[in-house]
Amino acid sequence: MKNIVILISGRGSNMQSIVAAAKTQKWPAQIAAVISNRADAEGLIFAAEQGIPTSVVVSKNYLSREKFEAALQEKIDQFSPDLIVLAGFMRILTARFVQHYASRIVNIHPSLLPRFPGLHTHRQALESGESEHGATVHIVTAELDHGPILGQVRVPILPNDTEASLANRVLNQEHVLYPHVIRQILQGELNLSLGAPSERAS
Ligand code: GAR
Repeated sequence: MKNIVILISGRGSNMQSIVAAAKTQKWPAQIAAVISNRADAEGLIFAAEQGIPTSVVVSKNYLSREKFEAALQEKIDQFSPDLIVLAGFMRILTARFVQHYASRIVNIHPSLLPRFPGLHTHRQALESGESEHGATVHIVTAELDHGPILGQVRVPILPNDTEASLANRVLNQEHVLYPHVIRQILQGELNLSLGAPSERAS
């Protein structure tokens, strides 16, 4: 049984879709913990209701990114994780932290990377005039939103879209994409090692 640790900062709807898929699809893995950097993250309530251990490491209580990450790492490692899943975890991570979890940390980003890394992706997509937007699951590397892509989902941008309507359309598809990719990882269909480019998932 593999251990998955999910990191969240807020609502946690992606985390919920992963918890649900793990249960209904009987994954050979358990959600060992849900950890947040914010005590008020709504997703913690859902996780606790599901009987999943929850924990909070409050980022703003630490004087430096390194000190916060040291505390977070200690907490994560208590659960012997095989896979770390960032699900709306809104912290930039240092190279040292990412290296510690090399080959076992993934993220979902609400854009068709390499388009629109960073924040306000739906606004950027609307302003770009493009006809398509989407979400990407990728391996986490030291460069923000730039790791090798494991899976993507596309949605149309419609003429009357607002940031909210577009975000909602993308989010609904994130809830399909992220569990799907994690299941592929668990089944050995995707390789998370950052070896030679030919070895990488694409
Ligand atoms: C999701 O749209 C996720 O892709 C995004 O935050 C939202 C979290 O929603 N992540 C990022 O922007 C990371 N750069 P959720 O808490 O309901 O899963």
